Amino acid sequence: LGRGIIVTLEAVRFKFQVQVGEIRSLPGLIDNNKGRYAVVIFEDLYMYLNLQGQNRANLDQYCRDFNVGILYLFYFYSKAKIVIAKMVGSFPLRFMSSVRLKDYEINATSPLLRITRPGSVVSTSIVPVPSPNDWTIFLPYHHTYTAVTLASRLKPPKLRKTKRRSNHLNSACGLEKLIPVLLDQGLYDGIQRVFFGNNLKFWLQKVLFLDALSYLSYGRLSLPLERYFQIDIDDIFVGVAESRLLVNDVQALLNFQTELRKNVPGFTYQLGFSGKFIYSGTNLESEGDRMLLKLADNFSWFPHMWSHMQAHWFSNASKLCEYMDINRQFALRHSLNTSSNYAVAPHHAGVYPVHQQLYHCWRKVWNITSTSSEEYPNLRPDHRRKGFIYRNIMVIPRQTCSLFTHTMVLDMYPGGKEVLLESIDGGSLFQSFLYNQVNVFMTHQSNYGNDRLGLFTFDRAMKFLYKWTNLRLVYEPPEVLGKRYFNLYPEEVEPVWSNPCLNRRHLEIWSEEKNCSSFPKFVVVGPQKTGTTALYWFLNMHPHVKSNLPSPTTFEEVQFFSGPNYFKGIDWYMSFFPTPENNTVLFEKSATYFDQKVVPKRLKTLLPSKHIVVILIDPALRAYSWYQHMRSHHDAFALKYSFYETITAHRGVDPDGLISLQRRCLDPGFYANHLENWLDFIQPQFIIIVDGDMLKTDPAAAMFQLQKSLGFTEIYQYNKILKFDERKGFFCQVQPKGKSKCLGQSKGRKYPEMEDESWKYLTKYYEEANLKLFKLLERLKKPIPEWLKKKSK
Ligand SMILES: *[C@@H]1O[C@H](CO)[C@@H](O)[C@H](O)[C@H]1NC(C)=O
Ligand SMILES: *[C@@H]1O[C@H](CO)[C@@H](O)[C@H](O)[C@H]1NC(C)=O
Ligand SMILES: *[C@@H]1O[C@H](CO)[C@@H](O)[C@H](O)[C@H]1NC(C)=O
Ligand SMILES: *[C@@H]1O[C@H](CO)[C@@H](O)[C@H](O)[C@H]1NC(C)=O
Ligand SMILES: *[C@@H]1O[C@H](CO)[C@@H](O)[C@H](O)[C@H]1NC(C)=O
Ligand SMILES: *[C@@H]1O[C@H](CO)[C@@H](O)[C@H](O)[C@H]1NC(C)=O
Ligand SMILES: *[C@@H]1O[C@H](CO)[C@@H](O)[C@H](O)[C@H]1NC(C)=O
Ligand SMILES: [Zn+2]
Repeated sequence: LGRGIIVTLEAVRFKFQVQVGEIRSLPGLIDNNKGRYAVVIFEDLYMYLNLQGQNRANLDQYCRDFNVGILYLFYFYSKAKIVIAKMVGSFPLRFMSSVRLKDYEINATSPLLRITRPGSVVSTSIVPVPSPNDWTIFLPYHHTYTAVTLASRLKPPKLRKTKRRSNHLNSACGLEKLIPVLLDQGLYDGIQRVFFGNNLKFWLQKVLFLDALSYLSYGRLSLPLERYFQIDIDDIFVGVAESRLLVNDVQALLNFQTELRKNVPGFTYQLGFSGKFIYSGTNLESEGDRMLLKLADNFSWFPHMWSHMQAHWFSNASKLCEYMDINRQFALRHSLNTSSNYAVAPHHAGVYPVHQQLYHCWRKVWNITSTSSEEYPNLRPDHRRKGFIYRNIMVIPRQTCSLFTHTMVLDMYPGGKEVLLESIDGGSLFQSFLYNQVNVFMTHQSNYGNDRLGLFTFDRAMKFLYKWTNLRLVYEPPEVLGKRYFNLYPEEVEPVWSNPCLNRRHLEIWSEEKNCSSFPKFVVVGPQKTGTTALYWFLNMHPHVKSNLPSPTTFEEVQFFSGPNYFKGIDWYMSFFPTPENNTVLFEKSATYFDQKVVPKRLKTLLPSKHIVVILIDPALRAYSWYQHMRSHHDAFALKYSFYETITAHRGVDPDGLISLQRRCLDPGFYANHLENWLDFIQPQFIIIVDGDMLKTDPAAAMFQLQKSLGFTEIYQYNKILKFDERKGFFCQVQPKGKSKCLGQSKGRKYPEMEDESWKYLTKYYEEANLKLFKLLERLKKPIPEWLKKKSK
């Protein structure tokens, strides 16, 4: 049941927090004098009744103070075969489990109803009330309680107890009917409650569940009643002979569209065409094709690919664009209206995982602005499909409507026609409309020929929807719909790239020229000014280790996960890595990653189970080094203000530029806080800590440890290749003929030591942060850098 609740909340995209098991303490309910939760849901009423100590009183008080209702579900009790009416804690209410129901109906005057519309009586013969034995019904003894739904008993209960008890069933508040869903209006103790006498498997309970959330949250958790939708008919010319549209089918399609427009103004089918296959059916079907062209102005058209080829088969963008243009010439010849700027890719290929050539050509050839896909982030679970924007093309999630290319005749529906009918009558198609404010449905040409299952399905779906809900269907052209989608879900604008090799379906629609072995095996994430360049250099000396190629703008660093480069996509990222040979280990180093909040999630999604390497030096020294770095880059503020002035500057008093410099000196040094952000996404065993002091004073030892942590089987001996250069004051690489090669001019820069007052100030400033780091590393069982040990004594 818990999963059912979570899936529903995820599907409607309400934010929630879950507590599992016995509740010993409540989560923080109040934040800045604001209530954090709009509704409290108990999967099991007894979890609430058994709250320990002050918890229940505190929760009740919270509900009264912040107008928050409580929702209870009764699933657990149905399992125990309790048939006797029991008191609900101290409430003037009894319940009885294991009751069999029939003739389930909605109380048409219940104030709870919002989306729910009292359709009719659900009798067991029309739509079976699921698990008829599992119902709990409520017996109220106070006028605060009113029925939300009512039902009759399917069979008299097998009560072996006294007659008096069975009388409770019908005599409570004088009701003849049983109450499976009950509303407490708060007249008893000031708290509104809804009791569900079953789980959420029955479709009607799902609708009522959303209404209960809205009611109990005083409207804060409410979806609007509008449902925007679009129906695509893909492959309009692609079907094999004997499965294609005839003249009558085309006429029926247009008639249905006209009919639909009565309820849904402007509704227009989107027809997807691959021009090559026109007139490839029987003679009669060619007449159907001609009819489509004749009525072309009555529909909206979108390009699908000239001969239904998949975009990822083309690596050469010019070739792909040329090929697309053939379909465009077809559209021009036949005056197909493609002004919707919408397109769909055969098999989703190239949309996700992104094939940048496809997006390039879509824009160039067709001026495409929106598309839809089922593949982002994954096909399943379908309620978690999302959208994103890449190169200004809106990708919005597509929903399945139980119709596929091969489902052409109702009586031959896979698994029996009941499967389709169930999906329409409260099942997945119904729920798609219920939960998603924006729906893009994909159907195929073959669903409109034969027995026109596509018309049947949506006709029935809409009748069912109008009968049982107050939802209003609205049509908007694709581009408007796309904009609406991202206005509703602005957090989805930015994509989060996943690893194509972790999803079989993604791998199938990924170019053969792309290969996950060219993703790095580990990433050095910084922070800046801790010796990351030296580490990068040392790692490259290793015969089997290779770094990313340099970037023309950011040099040795790719800076993919942290900044705008991320939106260039993984094709761009992969272009920085050679295809590794044999046992080469690839790595990337971008010191900007460490303290950027967005990085850990992105890195984990693209490179799961890969190590990250963090170098830690004394944060005071790091701050000073950053300051000196900025001076040598002629930063106006670093040149004008002393280090001490910089670190002690005050926001609101000193210039913004100085404050900004100060933050970039000081913020990365809160190592523990940043590490905790990483730990939200990356498991501790994948985080490697390098002692930055050791890397400087004994690099061979540090490199030995690092190789061990990375699990290298062959350890390269750095003491053979690194030699201390007295003149330079650091380690350099031994070259043939006794020469040595050192890091460039700018590295290992010389500058005066930090003055005492800054040193003292920073020691105090970072005292707590360093202690926190010490404890964190201890807890993670990570080696503690020497400098930190000293500080913590
Ligand atoms: C239906 O709900 C209304 C309003 O809450 C209530 O007054 C009425 O008693 C309910 N009807 C039944 C049959 O319980
Ligand atoms: C089809 O389009 C034509 C031309 O735009 C229009 O005159 C006609 O009314 C449309 N028919 C239907 C049924 O929408
Ligand atoms: C890509 O295709 C174009 C046009 O077909 C061709 O001229 C060009 O040489 C191809 N480029 C590569 C790198 O193969
Ligand atoms: C194409 O369709 C759009 C939207 O239905 C309409 O506004 C536009 O006038 C049509 N263009 C042509 C050339 O018929
Ligand atoms: C491309 O589409 C946009 C938005 O619909 C439109 O403003 C623009 O004029 C179109 N450009 C071309 C070249 O058709
Ligand atoms: C990647 O390349 C390796 C070696 O060339 C090959 O064995 C592997 O099958 C390729 N993987 C994919 C997903 O193409
Ligand atoms: C990769 O392995 C093959 C066969 O073992 C070998 O011939 C080749 O030289 C190796 N390549 C590199 C770059 O080490
Ligand atoms: Zn197709």
